[in-house]
Amino acid sequence: MLDLESLSTIDFSVAGQRAFVTGGSRGIGFAVGAALKKFGADVVLGDQNADIGHAAAARIGARFVEVDVRSDSSVREAVSWAAGKEGVLDIAVNCAGVARDHNGQPIGPAEDVSDQTWDTLHALNMTGVFRCSREEGQLMLRRGRGAIVVDLKKQSCSSRS
Ligand SMILES: NC(=O)c1ccc[n+]([C@@H]2O[C@H](COP(=O)([O-])OP(=O)(O)OC[C@H]3O[C@@H](n4cnc5c(N)ncnc54)[C@H](O)[C@@H]3O)[C@@H](O)[C@H]2O)c1
Repeated sequence: MLDLESLSTIDFSVAGQRAFVTGGSRGIGFAVGAALKKFGADVVLGDQNADIGHAAAARIGARFVEVDVRSDSSVREAVSWAAGKEGVLDIAVNCAGVARDHNGQPIGPAEDVSDQTWDTLHALNMTGVFRCSREEGQLMLRRGRGAIVVDLKKQSCSSRS
């Protein structure tokens, strides 16, 4: 359970900085977005799940933009929207990902992982993170500042012992 009050004891501020967090509708992304908001950032949550995403953003006083990290054009539009007409993005955290197989089931041991599941995991957890980082990075480089958390995922595949 996310305990934002416990953050009050931490001396840290990102006041006035604009942050874009993918996978922000729930889980790790939402927790990161809520924490950044708590520490003063102007937060934009991005996610493919718009219903949950809008509610999540409203809950913490952030904004929401729909994005599918499997699509280059979707990522470009979302990052541009998050940066606004000023083109400002100070912080980007790329949490959108999946730890399920292509049928939505928990991933089994590596020896049972199909090519289709492997491709699904890579499209989201590797290529999706790279695609977002590239777009965010270009924007930050143009401005000469910014920081990206590249949240590359472990693939949750292990061997049976
Ligand atoms: N929870 C853990 O302990 C843990 C540990 C290590 C790594 N991870 C990895 O971190 C990532 C996030 O974990 P989580 O627990 O927050 O997962 P989660 O399923 O709770 O949240 C993932 C979010 O990503 C979004 N998403 C999925 N596909 C998307 C797409 N194509 N475009 C945009 N958004 C998309 C989902 O809608 C969801 O809101 C996963 O890849 C997971 O494998 C999780």
